[in-house]
Amino acid sequence: MDACGYTPTPISVFLSNVTTPVDSGHSSAETDRVESGACCRFRHFASAPRESFVDIIVAQIGDHHGFLPTRGTFMLDFVFLAMIAIIPVMVWSIYLVRYQRRYELHKRVQVSLALVLLVAVVLFEVDVRFFTDWETLAVASPYFEPDAWCTVWYALVVHLVFAVPTPFIWAFVITQALRRFPRPAAPSAYSRQHIFRARVAAAGMVMTAVTGWVFYWLAFVA
Ligand code: HEM
Repeated sequence: MDACGYTPTPISVFLSNVTTPVDSGHSSAETDRVESGACCRFRHFASAPRESFVDIIVAQIGDHHGFLPTRGTFMLDFVFLAMIAIIPVMVWSIYLVRYQRRYELHKRVQVSLALVLLVAVVLFEVDVRFFTDWETLAVASPYFEPDAWCTVWYALVVHLVFAVPTPFIWAFVITQALRRFPRPAAPSAYSRQHIFRARVAAAGMVMTAVTGWVFYWLAFVA
């Protein structure tokens, strides 16, 4: 286990073996901290070759160090930021349909958002199921107690109450809208039902994002 409470995994050991030390670009004080292991957040930058951005991203994923200055992994940081980005895009899409009657653009934005979400959710699930032990990363939080019900676990349960059904509600709203609105998209006899269902879907997404941010902060920032 290192200074951040991180235990190496087979993937990170493999990646650190295939990378070669190069000039890190840190000042000598920073390099001392990196070499002493006090600053593991920068360690992958110190050890990864500089030739490609993709190498750095892959090393970050394998090394279980994200790109935000928190204890989150690459995928946790990515989903956290995706959730921040999704809300304004969704609000813009609803504004488009409600105040500008740009139905076809609303449809395209919502379908694109759903595809981005699908990819993020699948990558995230693979990461937390097979690669990341988030509890190890949360040990440093004052709100976390290993093997006990604690604030972090309560926050996670509340988050899951919204995060689990919301993708299914979105899938339902989108498939029904695609099937029952005319092409190109325009108001129809299905409008009333869509507006009600879509508001539930939008509220589910907002609650998923807000409860996710609370969990992320309690577990990986505090
Ligand atoms: C989960 C995805 C979606 C969400 C969250 C969503 C959200 C909304 C919301 C909240 C409204 C009502 C705006 C208001 O208050 O006036 C609305 C209207 C509308 N949406 Fe969506 N939408 C989604 C997907 C789609 C898709 C895929 C289509 C097209 C196939 C579509 C077509 C429309 C149309 C035509 C209206 C206008 C209904 C009317 O005013 O008569 N939506 N949408």
